[in-house]
Amino acid sequence: MDLNAIYQSIQEDLSRVKECLRSIIKVEFPWLAKQLDYVVGGGGKGIRPALTLLSGKFYRYNLELLLPMAASVELMHTATLIHDDAIDKSMSRRGKATIFKLWGGEPAILLGDYLFAKAGEFVSDTQSPRVIKLFSQTLATISSGELNQFFSAYNLKQTRDQYFKKISGKTASLFALSTESGAILSGAPEKSVRILRDYGHYLGIAFQIVDDILDFIGTEAELGKPVGSDLAQGTITLPAMLLLERSPEDNPVKRRFENRDDPDNIRQAIELIRNSPIVDECYAVANEYCAKACQHLNQLPENNNREALLKLAEYVVARNR
Ligand code: IPE
Ligand code: IPE
Ligand code: MG
Ligand code: MG
Repeated sequence: MDLNAIYQSIQEDLSRVKECLRSIIKVEFPWLAKQLDYVVGGGGKGIRPALTLLSGKFYRYNLELLLPMAASVELMHTATLIHDDAIDKSMSRRGKATIFKLWGGEPAILLGDYLFAKAGEFVSDTQSPRVIKLFSQTLATISSGELNQFFSAYNLKQTRDQYFKKISGKTASLFALSTESGAILSGAPEKSVRILRDYGHYLGIAFQIVDDILDFIGTEAELGKPVGSDLAQGTITLPAMLLLERSPEDNPVKRRFENRDDPDNIRQAIELIRNSPIVDECYAVANEYCAKACQHLNQLPENNNREALLKLAEYVVARNR
């Protein structure tokens, strides 16, 4: 499935979002200008800004407000990735070297902070205190989700509830901000704001489940980032959780977590999961969340953007990057 086809009704405006993003590159400090160019120059799928624009299409499509909002969610996302890669000591992202690899952890944290600040500047251009507050709350929620993940690393006793709480914080919250802000800024009635926020939230959950599956079954060439990295970080995601549930006594995930030095256990765990029904079970859960995401979309005004949101939900599960 082709993202460009899904983005058709907003393609031109997404180019304008890119222009907004590129506008931050013009700074005096040459090192910073070069890195900003590197990180906002492209390579991402642009799902979050697309969600903002599509969600803004049901009532008053006001680009003056929606453009800075879309730029803001993409910048917030990019900042979290730069921080995430520094925390994970990850070497590739979007098919290129990470800021961490090029410059180390400290510049990565500082550059991420810079982008958060620029994201804040863009969101303030919406002039909407409600949206500005949501933006700050979302940033707090993402940070809390990442901290939660950090402190539960290598803990084998994690429940599904805890997993859903984590991915809700670190990923779904930004998806929800992307759709809810689009709805609010287009003057949507409260009921529609809720429908679009819920769509974003459930889509974000499905998106992260698929990301966690792809970490086991994907390839670095397609994803543009390392695979197998969740177990390497001690992060238990849904596939690993299902493996632990199936063979609680002895399995490579457990062995890996008890003996962190033996990389062979990661390889074994990946093999085991790839060749088991676990992958299909995880996809079934992701599909459930996509269905939940879409369940009330038919109450929105009928137009081709509704179709785009439905297609995007299909894409999220079918994607390989
Ligand atoms: C990656 O998000 C981080 C997760 C929430 C899993 P994307 O897969 O949307 O990243 P880009 O922007 O397309 O690179
Ligand atoms: C998403 O989770 C990270 C953030 C929300 C910052 P992952 O850690 O799975 O993202 P990737 O796989 O590195 O892109
Ligand atoms: Mg990561
Ligand atoms: Mg991942």
